[in-house]
Amino acid sequence: MLGPRSCGPVISFMFFGTLTFLLFFNPSRILPGTISVEIRHPFSEKPAPNPYNETKLALLIENRPQPHLTPLLLHFMSVVPPEWPFLFMGSNESIAHIQRSAPIRGYIDNGKLSVQLIPKGMLVDSQEHLSQTMTRVDFYQSLLPAEWLFIFQTDSIICANSAVSLNDWVEKGFSWVGASWGQDTKYGGNGGFNLRRISHLIKVLSHQNRNADDDPLEDWWLTDRLGHMPNAKMANGTEEMSFSVEKVPYPTPLGYHTGWSGNLLMAQVWGEQEQRDQIFEYCPEIKIMLPLVPKREAEGCYKDISDSFPWS
Ligand SMILES: *[C@@H]1O[C@H](CO)[C@@H](O)[C@H](O)[C@H]1NC(C)=O
Ligand SMILES: *[C@@H]1O[C@H](CO)[C@@H](O)[C@H](O)[C@H]1NC(C)=O
Ligand SMILES: *[C@@H]1O[C@H](CO)[C@@H](O)[C@H](O)[C@H]1NC(C)=O
Repeated sequence: MLGPRSCGPVISFMFFGTLTFLLFFNPSRILPGTISVEIRHPFSEKPAPNPYNETKLALLIENRPQPHLTPLLLHFMSVVPPEWPFLFMGSNESIAHIQRSAPIRGYIDNGKLSVQLIPKGMLVDSQEHLSQTMTRVDFYQSLLPAEWLFIFQTDSIICANSAVSLNDWVEKGFSWVGASWGQDTKYGGNGGFNLRRISHLIKVLSHQNRNADDDPLEDWWLTDRLGHMPNAKMANGTEEMSFSVEKVPYPTPLGYHTGWSGNLLMAQVWGEQEQRDQIFEYCPEIKIMLPLVPKREAEGCYKDISDSFPWS
């Protein structure tokens, strides 16, 4: 009597255990008419496909921990199409500054934003030093496999109201497109808000070296060489007007570039109150990077952007 009684739980465990096992892994064999479904184990899935396109790269180089750095970078990450990865190259100070922001840390954690120190020996603390860095072939080689390099500085902005996106400009396939230097120019445009093709630049820089301190700044020097390269495709000054506005007015560009950290505003674009009203209506976020305020808004402030129009 003792034997069978103590075996009861073991037998029923084996019976129900087997049933459960069969039901779980092959229910159609036990219950006719049921469909066998694949059992997915959450958290042990294959890794998600990389959401970023490695042929594209948005790059901001900034060594100063400016107050508008974080909001500007976050704005760019929301208006550049989502498959673009971002790289921030900074100093210890500017990197620590952006990493204070919770949303920035979130983007670093999920791989949207990479952060790295400006490599030793690559200086960015003056226009000449930046030009030396941006004309080094090893600088572009370090960004491979990226091909489409979007460079933006802290005195530029993409307008959320723009009907075209950065990808529309990638589609056009230009070797270089920047802020137009003049409606009649054959090619060339400002490098501070600019889309450039890495393979074409590597080709130029494998054969030619810029003379530090003597040669023109990087955008001028590089576009002059790209413009003479047989397979390069250059945007001319008229085509560039709708890409970015610096000194040639256009009502609805993709973005704006100013000069010298927002302290230099060209009179052709900013001189008249009517022009400023139109810009602020189309692209209100441009105010993030203007250190000064326009005349009408200046009451009670001690600075006025009209002071900065060089040729008004
Ligand atoms: C990445 O972008 C390039 C340029 O637009 C495109 O040709 C390519 O198909 C894209 N790659 C993927 C995996 O979507
Ligand atoms: C940045 O910080 C690291 C680690 O704290 C230090 O080793 C390095 O020297 C610093 N670099 C600069 C340029 O200050
Ligand atoms: C710029 O390119 C456009 C389109 O290809 C062309 O119609 C125009 O004549 C060109 N302008 C100049 C100044 O070369």
